[in-house]
Amino acid sequence: MEEKRDVVVLVGSLRKASLTRRVARALQKIAPASLALEIVEIRDLQMYDEDLETQTPPREWVAFRERIKRCDAVLFATPEYNRSVPGCLKNAVDVGSRPGGHGVFAGKPGAIVSVTPYGLGAFGANHHLRQALVYVDVLTMAQPEAYVSQAGELVDEEFNITKEASRKFFDTFLKAFAAWIELTRKK
Ligand code: FNR
Repeated sequence: MEEKRDVVVLVGSLRKASLTRRVARALQKIAPASLALEIVEIRDLQMYDEDLETQTPPREWVAFRERIKRCDAVLFATPEYNRSVPGCLKNAVDVGSRPGGHGVFAGKPGAIVSVTPYGLGAFGANHHLRQALVYVDVLTMAQPEAYVSQAGELVDEEFNITKEASRKFFDTFLKAFAAWIELTRKK
């Protein structure tokens, strides 16, 4: 049997009815057999404060870092706040990136899905996140890019994608990500 790759999904929204989380849940449902997608919660990560690093780092940071270290790849699902990445997701990137020289994202294959109920596909968030991921050395898949607009009606209560064209796009996206993981992951 094909070995499953362990993909951590980080969702940049904390609200219950999050459209971004719904898209992430839908992706879990249609992921190819070679990928196991698990949403890892970021709500309880304390805001990054370098002073905490020098004492005993919060156990939430330690557990998060251990989980990222173990995974094969990371899928970032982000809404857009004021044309950028929501603070909670940026904080998760910051927590994982430290202490300097020991960042747990370094060398991991990654991909970004940005989501908005409006137009423009949360392009600003997608690319601000991409910029931070360059610095923390995530090997972020370039193509296909995933800018999800009009997300309000896109996923139903059972996390099915309602539009055929979108379902096909996400299928292509996930298969490309699976191939990207095989190409780039450290053996
Ligand atoms: C938003 N929203 C938003 N949408 C967008 O397309 N571009 C933007 O720059 C912003 N800015 C923004 C700032 C803040 C503080 C909030 C709370 C919201 C709207 C946003 O796309 C909408 O609330 C989404 O539903 C948020 O994603 P989740 O929580 O549904 O995943």
